[in-house]
Amino acid sequence: MTDKLIIFDTTLRDGEQSPGASMTRDEKVRIARALERMRVDVIEAGFPIASPGDFESVKAVADAVKDSTVCGLARALDRDIDRAGEALKGAASARIHTFIATSPIHMKMKLRMQPDAVLEQAVAAVKRACKYTDNVEFSPEDAGRSELDFLCRVLEAVIDAGATTVNIPDTVGYNLPHQFGALIGNLIERVPNADKAVFSVHCHNDLGLAVANSLAAVDSGARQVECTINGLGERAGNAALEEVVMAVSTRHDVFGCNVDHIDRSQIVSCSRLVSSITGFTVQPNKAIVGANAFAHESGIHQDGVLKSRETYEIMRAEDVGWSTNRMVLGKHSGRNAFRSRLAELGVSFGSEEELNAAFVRFKELADKKHEIFDDDLQALVTEANLEAENERVKLVSLRVCSETGETPEATVTLNIDGEEKHVSASGSGPVDAAFKAIESVVCSGTELQLYSVNNITSGTDSQGEVTVRLERGGRIVNGQGADTDIVIASAKAYVNALNKIFTPEDREHPQV
Ligand code: KIV
Ligand code: ZN
Repeated sequence: MTDKLIIFDTTLRDGEQSPGASMTRDEKVRIARALERMRVDVIEAGFPIASPGDFESVKAVADAVKDSTVCGLARALDRDIDRAGEALKGAASARIHTFIATSPIHMKMKLRMQPDAVLEQAVAAVKRACKYTDNVEFSPEDAGRSELDFLCRVLEAVIDAGATTVNIPDTVGYNLPHQFGALIGNLIERVPNADKAVFSVHCHNDLGLAVANSLAAVDSGARQVECTINGLGERAGNAALEEVVMAVSTRHDVFGCNVDHIDRSQIVSCSRLVSSITGFTVQPNKAIVGANAFAHESGIHQDGVLKSRETYEIMRAEDVGWSTNRMVLGKHSGRNAFRSRLAELGVSFGSEEELNAAFVRFKELADKKHEIFDDDLQALVTEANLEAENERVKLVSLRVCSETGETPEATVTLNIDGEEKHVSASGSGPVDAAFKAIESVVCSGTELQLYSVNNITSGTDSQGEVTVRLERGGRIVNGQGADTDIVIASAKAYVNALNKIFTPEDREHPQV
């Protein structure tokens, strides 16, 4: 018997701190349900004080999720903790995660506080959080650059005050695996009441070491890892959940803990869902969830795998869900089949009208593409949500003309604030022409930072899923669009990004 490794997912909180990755309340609920299906232990749903929208999202996740603990982030401030407590009221199992920085540079330059005052504030925050739940986590932010003696004092004090989990963040991704492992080992050894709390780690990937550091910490006794799907997160991201889980399960021979409770077959679909909602696509050679992760190109490898798969495969693709993208529905499927497959994917509809609207889209898609896979259904729902949320600019129609040796032209009809506008433009390709036409009438003043197209399923009738990243005045948004016609998918993605940029955003960042 080995210990269970607690998997704490922060895709909805730290993941969302990636520029452009912000998610709507309904999207967060969809992802939370997927994480619950995967049997993730703790879902950090957001930072409730950040904005009314963030509060509502945490509340909605707390109300929807029953089998995982739902956690809300709070700075070590009364108002943050009270807001988190309020948002989590409906949770079957709630955790408050409070934090304050403990490194010399953060205390001096950011907080402008003396260490003793920081310690006092940490203890007060934990005590206040304990009024709402007995499941309280404390993080000394930038622990990876904090002084060991001070860290030990803070951890001892917060555990005495009631913290049941103490999380050690390498906030800036500065540590190396041997150092970080030693840090965790030292803390567990030196903090006198270490046995009263679970030691957790939270690693950022600035040096590409987030997973390696997390695993070194697990080897030294950490029993919770904080991570995100696809490694989404600020800057270079957080430790990738799928990598941590599969490393611990594949190498159970070396770790003193297990992830047997995690349903690994949900990994690929969850990865796809997060990438389709956030527009952060997964690189093909990404471990576990990249399209090439289990593909054997070289003849020698293929030959070996055919004779015995263990020659080159240390994991089975189907164990992480690669073959579960079932063809579920087609042109002749009815509304009930549609509704129940979506329910299995964790998608429910607020009203019959919403279901009907989605079903109409499904029929339109089934006319163009006769095999509809789970990923198609997820993209369809994502798109329905995008349109419902963002209404200022709508794409009414698009016509492109592209011919060998001729300059492509696009004619677009947009509905802007209720008024129809027609416009044409030419460009270096049909997508360029369509974007130029849209921009000539919208005049958004944005700069295109990224344009990417991915096929949702395989085959030439696959839908193309397009991400468009726009920047204006330092604010970055991602827009998504899907269609069997990639020029239309591109125009939808562009319009979606424009709608996001036109929606004012006023939310606080927890660490600023
Ligand atoms: O990276 C970090 O330090 C954090 C804390 C809030 C845990 O995200
Ligand atoms: Zn973080």
